[in-house]
Amino acid sequence: MSTVAMNWIYLLLIVFISVVDSRLGSFNAGVNGGGDCATCTIVLGLVDHLTIVYNDTAAHALERLCTFLPGEFKTYCKAAVDFLGPLIIDGFIKGDNPDVICHALKFCHDDAGQGKCRIYPSKSSLSVPQRALNLLQRHPRINLFLTKSKICEIPGIKEICRIIENVFNNHLPMLDLDQDHFGTETTLRGSSWRGKDCNDLSSQIHPGAHTIQSDSMIDHNCNGIFGMNSATGRPWEDEFCNETQRMGIAVLGDSLSAHFHIPEQWLDASQFSPEAFEHLGFILENELDWPQLSASTGHVNVSWPNIIGPTRSLYARLFDLDHCNHRDYQNIAVNGARSSSMTNIMKTLSRHQKNDVPLLVIYSLVGNDVCNGHPDTIDHMTTVEQMHKNVITTLTYLDTVLPSGSHVVTTGLGNGSMLYDLLHDRLHPFGRIGPPITYPQMYDYLSCLQISPCNGWLTSNYTLRALTTDRAVELSAAVRNATFSYESKHFDVDYLDFPFDQAIQEWEAQGGQPWQLIESIDGFHINQYGHAIVSDILWAWFQKEKPHWLPTLNPHNADIERVFKDQGGY
Ligand SMILES: *[C@@H]1O[C@H](CO)[C@@H](O)[C@H](O)[C@H]1NC(C)=O
Ligand SMILES: *[C@@H]1O[C@H](CO)[C@@H](O)[C@H](O)[C@H]1NC(C)=O
Ligand SMILES: *[C@@H]1O[C@H](CO)[C@@H](O)[C@H](O)[C@H]1NC(C)=O
Ligand SMILES: *[C@@H]1O[C@H](CO)[C@@H](O)[C@H](O)[C@H]1NC(C)=O
Ligand SMILES: *[C@@H]1O[C@H](CO)[C@@H](O)[C@H](O)[C@H]1NC(C)=O
Ligand SMILES: *[C@@H]1O[C@H](CO)[C@@H](O)[C@H](O)[C@H]1NC(C)=O
Repeated sequence: MSTVAMNWIYLLLIVFISVVDSRLGSFNAGVNGGGDCATCTIVLGLVDHLTIVYNDTAAHALERLCTFLPGEFKTYCKAAVDFLGPLIIDGFIKGDNPDVICHALKFCHDDAGQGKCRIYPSKSSLSVPQRALNLLQRHPRINLFLTKSKICEIPGIKEICRIIENVFNNHLPMLDLDQDHFGTETTLRGSSWRGKDCNDLSSQIHPGAHTIQSDSMIDHNCNGIFGMNSATGRPWEDEFCNETQRMGIAVLGDSLSAHFHIPEQWLDASQFSPEAFEHLGFILENELDWPQLSASTGHVNVSWPNIIGPTRSLYARLFDLDHCNHRDYQNIAVNGARSSSMTNIMKTLSRHQKNDVPLLVIYSLVGNDVCNGHPDTIDHMTTVEQMHKNVITTLTYLDTVLPSGSHVVTTGLGNGSMLYDLLHDRLHPFGRIGPPITYPQMYDYLSCLQISPCNGWLTSNYTLRALTTDRAVELSAAVRNATFSYESKHFDVDYLDFPFDQAIQEWEAQGGQPWQLIESIDGFHINQYGHAIVSDILWAWFQKEKPHWLPTLNPHNADIERVFKDQGGY
């Protein structure tokens, strides 16, 4: 791994240790401690689970926790345990639960008028803040430190926090010397997200570029095919690639398109292992997203224990049809994106109307226009008028960057009512050890802290779920209407309902249970199997409804494999 990546791991670590996960993307600041409180409570809950799994003391469990972490994370974990360990162990010995200990550590508090957020039932006659105060008073050194300030406000660390926020807010490759929005690193919006740049010193050279002089010397489009066939005296690009039409793919989307996924092993102490945490740095640098395995831009299979299920994607199929499209993908999806923020995010798409080849664009915002963590959640939903306007704004912008011959398909929102129906009587992975915790209990805890990804759908209130779905249906109609109202100059359009129920039918036909398609930790996104099936459905839809959008089969694919092997990989 390069030094740049190592430095970033170091920086990310500080953020991780200071438990400011809200900066990783999708969370609101929340109340009563918000994301900091939830993270602290869950981490200490896991320590408690370790004492159960290994029949061991809290002191040993804390030590054990650090041993699962890779490299520098281990060092920092140990430093944190050395410092905070005495208070945490003391708390567990006296029978305090993680709610109490995290109050003592000041990650959680009971803000005036915001209710009391607890994940564990209390057996004590004293209140959580009272017990927390007692605990803290026995540890004056820690108390002194904690009263200072939030970690991201300490001079020195403040600057580091700001740099990290920048990367996660700009959605562009961190390392990109020629500023063409394609990078050479994998993470930090690099080749996991956008095809790898094969020359980071020239902005003319990037995936999706037109060939120049048939790429007889230089691989301008980074598809790994360049040079001359000495036997015939013709450029390889002409021999292998000029009977078929190039077509790249991009998705403008949210956490679903980015493929948000928190490995289940991280929240289930019985599944802790060094292997489960081995790729922690990589995963954080990708914002907990897995675009490289997603339904739209997936291009690899990984054998890490964090992922179960195969990668099937639209990009992989475009590549299978025509290997000349190698590396021409862009995943412009951001956790928490909604139609209004997309009007900025879209500008990070990289396409030149004249110098690049046509693009198939998927515009898919499936939830955040109706999903938020506010108690008055309905008031914070996008209105039909706003949705219509935002979609038109994005299509108008696309018309200024997409080459002629491009295609745009928009999708509607998902039907999130199904999530509750599928999961409400199941145990959350975090609640499999220790006190049982169901999905609705987890939802209530997150909405109390006002960090739920979706108060409208992740709730036991049937009326609210139905109202949220009603709005989603109206907004989908607005997307559809805007798509067909807009008169585009450089692309043709179509609209498609988000095929969540088809995915479920398809999965059941293959013998599966519907809940198996949902991410177990967040209960909100589709998982790896879900991505593969959604890509099957979308591809079948293209083949049936838009066969003329798809490239033809390149008869030279086998020749390309023979001469250029893996075309430089990903
Ligand atoms: C757990 O550890 C305690 C003390 O070391 C021991 O007495 C007890 O038998 C152990 N329980 C199990 C289930 O191993
Ligand atoms: C392919 O490239 C050659 C140049 O080597 C050109 O003469 C020919 O017309 C091209 N064929 C197509 C179908 O574009
Ligand atoms: C991943 O593996 C599956 C099953 O072996 C295969 O069908 C699929 O094409 C592979 N995907 C990619 C992107 O290589
Ligand atoms: C959404 O899903 C629920 C079942 O979970 C179903 O009752 C409802 O009819 C669906 N609504 C729409 C608009 O598809
Ligand atoms: C359920 O949600 C609806 C709509 O927001 C609200 O009017 C109602 O009071 C809620 N019911 C409960 C029991 O909270
Ligand atoms: C969009 O909605 C408007 C107003 O309801 C309607 O007049 C128009 O025909 C719709 N356009 C399309 C393409 O559906």
